[in-house]
Amino acid sequence: MLPPPALLIWIASVGLLQAESAITSQTSPLDTCGLIANVVSDNSAVFFPDDSEYVDDNAHFAVSAAKNSTCSVEPGTAADIGSIVKILASTRTPFAIKGGGHNLNPGFSSTSGVQLSMARFNQVIFHAESQTVDIGSGLVWDQVYADLEPYNVSVVGGRATGVGVAGLLLGGGYSYKTNQYGLAVDSITAFELVLPSGKVQTITQKSDQDLFFALRGGGNNFGIVTKFTMKTHPQPTVWGGSITYAGAQGDAVTTALLNYTEKNTDPQTGLQCTYASFGGQDIVMVNLFYNEPAPPAGIFDAFLAIPAISSNVSARSYLSLIQSANTDLTAGMRGLYSTVSHTAVTLSLTTAMRNETNFYGALLQPDTLVLNGYVIEPFLPDAYHRGLSPTAYPPDRSENIHPMNIYYAWTDTNFDEVMLKTSRASTRHLQNVAAAEGILASAMYPNYALFGTPLERFYGENIDRLREIKGRVDPFDVMSLTGGFKL
Ligand SMILES: Cc1cc2nc3c(=O)[nH]c(=O)nc-3n(C[C@H](O)[C@H](O)[C@H](O)COP(=O)(O)OP(=O)(O)OC[C@H]3O[C@@H](n4cnc5c(N)ncnc54)[C@H](O)[C@@H]3O)c2cc1C
Ligand SMILES: *[C@@H]1O[C@H](CO)[C@@H](O)[C@H](O)[C@H]1NC(C)=O
Ligand SMILES: *[C@@H]1O[C@H](CO)[C@@H](O)[C@H](O)[C@H]1NC(C)=O
Ligand SMILES: *[C@@H]1O[C@H](CO)[C@@H](O)[C@H](O)[C@H]1NC(C)=O
Ligand SMILES: *[C@@H]1O[C@H](CO)[C@@H](O)[C@H](O)[C@H]1NC(C)=O
Ligand SMILES: *[C@@H]1O[C@H](CO)[C@@H](O)[C@H](O)[C@H]1NC(C)=O
Repeated sequence: MLPPPALLIWIASVGLLQAESAITSQTSPLDTCGLIANVVSDNSAVFFPDDSEYVDDNAHFAVSAAKNSTCSVEPGTAADIGSIVKILASTRTPFAIKGGGHNLNPGFSSTSGVQLSMARFNQVIFHAESQTVDIGSGLVWDQVYADLEPYNVSVVGGRATGVGVAGLLLGGGYSYKTNQYGLAVDSITAFELVLPSGKVQTITQKSDQDLFFALRGGGNNFGIVTKFTMKTHPQPTVWGGSITYAGAQGDAVTTALLNYTEKNTDPQTGLQCTYASFGGQDIVMVNLFYNEPAPPAGIFDAFLAIPAISSNVSARSYLSLIQSANTDLTAGMRGLYSTVSHTAVTLSLTTAMRNETNFYGALLQPDTLVLNGYVIEPFLPDAYHRGLSPTAYPPDRSENIHPMNIYYAWTDTNFDEVMLKTSRASTRHLQNVAAAEGILASAMYPNYALFGTPLERFYGENIDRLREIKGRVDPFDVMSLTGGFKL
């Protein structure tokens, strides 16, 4: 009997070596590591548990998101990734793709199979004529901001040190500059992508409107990105930093926050407000941002007037701002993110968030909880109207989404299940509070969402189009061999 035509085309496209293994399909991950080592150029390398590179390649912000892979691979060229993908596809070997390693969901960028670390895609190339920048997909935002500083330009990117370019951009991307320039995906002009077939392609609005739409928020469902091209914007010295208040100042901070979310219309602003229980203490933290060396009088005055435990708000570089927040305090611990999307900030919602913080802080702290944080991230409605074309996320730009971030950090593995249950219960509770207030948004932010969240919750009416595109570019479902939110 003849194999079906699709299989013949597949075998032709993956080449003879891989086709053989496709037929046996009994290849162990270790064999796959060997096959990869044999085909890649000298620009790429395969590492095993004794190598220091292996440790780096498997490292994650949250240790609970990490796994020990069979081997790690540091590809050095897009063409090598093409060969690697063909081997992974034909042997059906589970693999992971890691950018900055900041996703908190276990298995989203980790695996017991083949770990791909994008670390060698580490170039930042500024094009003065087009005012765009090519960014390697293995970079963290710190490096991008640092490399663009001499040109007095920057990009719409992450707000905390160590966050990867790739994961943030493939999920949507909220920035201090989102009010002014939209989501990070709105600044992308091109992707260099290794398709699930192994083919390397540049994807733009012109070259492939569908795939360009899908990659901006649709995660790792469409292939492996090697390079992002983004629009840059002039980057002055900025103003901002972090303030930590005692929990007793919670009412005063909330009053300032409610005024800010109600009255502020200045697009150069950015703000995050976190109600947290940290090491047994209730605290409130705010991160303030203005995209000039000083903010106009009024906007942030109320926050600055409240007595604080510590504060480091000042005029500084954009890079120094993202490195001033103490987000790395919980690096290396166990952790989970969860989220509720809301369309307004109300006193009932902030009151409920503070109650969640205190309630679960008191309940879990004696044992293992290091931090729980409930973060309000208000954006202006205009933030969602800065993009030039539709993106996978957010599906409905008429909705003014404020993506609440819920973060649990702990140390004892025995509490993994309790923390997961708590995150789920607390998320549900706050969803109900928001729904009762009539402020529950329809779309959740994938980069903050707990694993297991149905994809309809992120993509709404875009889901059918995304599934169609995925079917076209990945007919053999190669990308289901890697973790993440799968279409
Ligand atoms: C401390 C902290 C601060 C944060 N701050 C922000 C913020 O300011 N704004 C915001 O929007 N989000 C923020 N996030 C969320 C962040 O966007 C996600 O955690 C994101 O997944 C991180 O990307 P990464 O590259 O570091 O993660 P990784 O774990 O390396 O990757 C995340 C996902 O992307 C996939 N992926 C990685 N590289 C590629 C590639 N080259 N091709 C295809 N798929 C790939 C992975 O397979 C994985 O599924 C923050 C998270 C943390 C922990
Ligand atoms: C990976 O292996 C190392 C060394 O054996 C071990 O210390 C570590 O706990 C392992 N990590 C995971 C996530 O299993
Ligand atoms: C960047 O700005 C600084 C300070 O205003 C200025 O001295 C420098 O010449 C500028 N660099 C470029 C490349 O424009
Ligand atoms: C309320 O917000 C407006 C707009 O940002 C600002 O001008 C004003 O000073 C704020 N008032 C208080 C009391 O914070
Ligand atoms: C800035 O202030 C925050 C909050 O008070 C603090 O946690 C952080 O460590 C400070 N950062 C620096 C670089 O001093
Ligand atoms: C506080 O939160 C807990 C857990 O969600 C809930 O059971 C309780 O009813 C809340 N209390 C108030 C006053 O909202």
